[in-house]
Amino acid sequence: MSKNRLVIFDTTLRDGEQSPGASMTRDEKVRIAKMLEKMKVDVIEAGFAIASPGDFESIRAVAEAVKDSTICSLARAVEGDIERAAAAIKPANSGRIHTFIATSPIHMQYKLMMEPDQVLERAVKMVKMARNLCDDVEFSLEDGSRSEYEFQCRIIEAVINAGASTINIPDTVGYGEPLEYGAMFKRLIENVPNADKAIFSTHCHNDLGLAVANSLSAVMNGVRQVECTINGLGERAGNASLEEVVMAVKTRSDVFPVTTSIEPVHIVPTSRLVSSITGFPVQPNKAIVGANAFAHESGIHQDGVLKHRETYEIMSAETVGWAANKLVLGKHSGRAAVKARFEELGITFESQDALNEAFVGFKELADKKHEIFDEDLQALVSGVSAADTPIKYDCTELEATSKTGAKPQASLTLVIDGQAQTTAADGDGLVDAAYKAIEKIVNSGSELKLYLVSAVTEGTDSLGEVTVRLEKDNVIVNGSGTDTDIVVASVKAYLNALNLLEAGILKAHPQKEGV
Ligand code: KIV
Ligand code: ZN
Repeated sequence: MSKNRLVIFDTTLRDGEQSPGASMTRDEKVRIAKMLEKMKVDVIEAGFAIASPGDFESIRAVAEAVKDSTICSLARAVEGDIERAAAAIKPANSGRIHTFIATSPIHMQYKLMMEPDQVLERAVKMVKMARNLCDDVEFSLEDGSRSEYEFQCRIIEAVINAGASTINIPDTVGYGEPLEYGAMFKRLIENVPNADKAIFSTHCHNDLGLAVANSLSAVMNGVRQVECTINGLGERAGNASLEEVVMAVKTRSDVFPVTTSIEPVHIVPTSRLVSSITGFPVQPNKAIVGANAFAHESGIHQDGVLKHRETYEIMSAETVGWAANKLVLGKHSGRAAVKARFEELGITFESQDALNEAFVGFKELADKKHEIFDEDLQALVSGVSAADTPIKYDCTELEATSKTGAKPQASLTLVIDGQAQTTAADGDGLVDAAYKAIEKIVNSGSELKLYLVSAVTEGTDSLGEVTVRLEKDNVIVNGSGTDTDIVVASVKAYLNALNLLEAGILKAHPQKEGV
């Protein structure tokens, strides 16, 4: 590989999923992974195989579906984790095991309760074991940016000798500062005797808002892999955002001596897909993918852009995929055209039934709404409950009424395991009334953590996309629903969340459990 090639390692499906409430089903992960592949992401970290049977299955499904990107699973430096990771990535054309152990004094003493020598010994043993199962092994020094230089040198040299070909030094707690973090890499790359046998990698968290700056500083100092996520999703304040890193090195190629394989035109559609699946909205002023990122409000700017675009625009909206939200289909479009457009958006259907369901949804929407945009298609499939979510609760009838001076009322029929039950409730609004009616029947005991409505496109005929986050017994789930009727979308989202809770997905967290 050329010395100037920057490897883009996307961890939306692993670290991104560690954002509380951002859990994704297997089918949703496959859909995102296919978009990442289309964007030409080099490495997709598809999950943490030991975390749960669901995570394991998701990694396998991604490994089966994606052929062009390397598929990676995270594993603590523990035998069981590494075996599970190897099994999960087995179907991949190109697979990677990413194993890690904490190396900072504070983590070793209080979390691992291990001496540095024990940590080093375990790291070497586990990298060797991983190498026996997979040719491509990455090793991460967790809390690496707060680790001592001498120990960093010792452990890096030892794991490279043991077979690791990528060395990742994460800024796990988002404490790093660009000059210091960059200098750390320079010093290590210059002084670890076998540093030339590995690619150094950065993985930054955004607790101080410095994740992208730290990642870029690392690149300036010799790092050739950046770990990042779509929309900057990730644990706590998130990870470095893929779109910002990629567009920074591309737009400022005069400063950054690297190239990536990324096709940026897929950035905006992928950002939208991730946002609609996870229920994490993108702030309007977010760089690259925010709704206002290319909007010029001030008269002076507008005038300048009209006269000569480069006066105020450093990159074009089309380059990153903003033109992709063009009008594509209408009421008279046939099944083949709809299927083809879904496929262009990275959405494939596992069965004829799934395609039929999406096509029926499309026709219903086209009857209500004249113009169908790409966002509508994406919202349509994110609203269809993923095929791998068992459906316990379904709503077959809903009536919601509001009248000036009267309390809003909702009555609905729920089918639970094949048994229909009807009830009614009033509330502080139509959605509140509908949710009270659902809870009268289900009595779920869950707590509503988030209720979010957004319009998928412009205009009052837009599809409304609703996200509902519920928590019960430490399990947090996100349900989503779409419809041109907000109350219907809200009920769909609530039932989707209840069905996910029912599936009881409980996961281990990679950094919360000691080894
Ligand atoms: O932030 C971190 O340290 C991580 C490692 C597991 C790579 O996510
Ligand atoms: Zn992380």
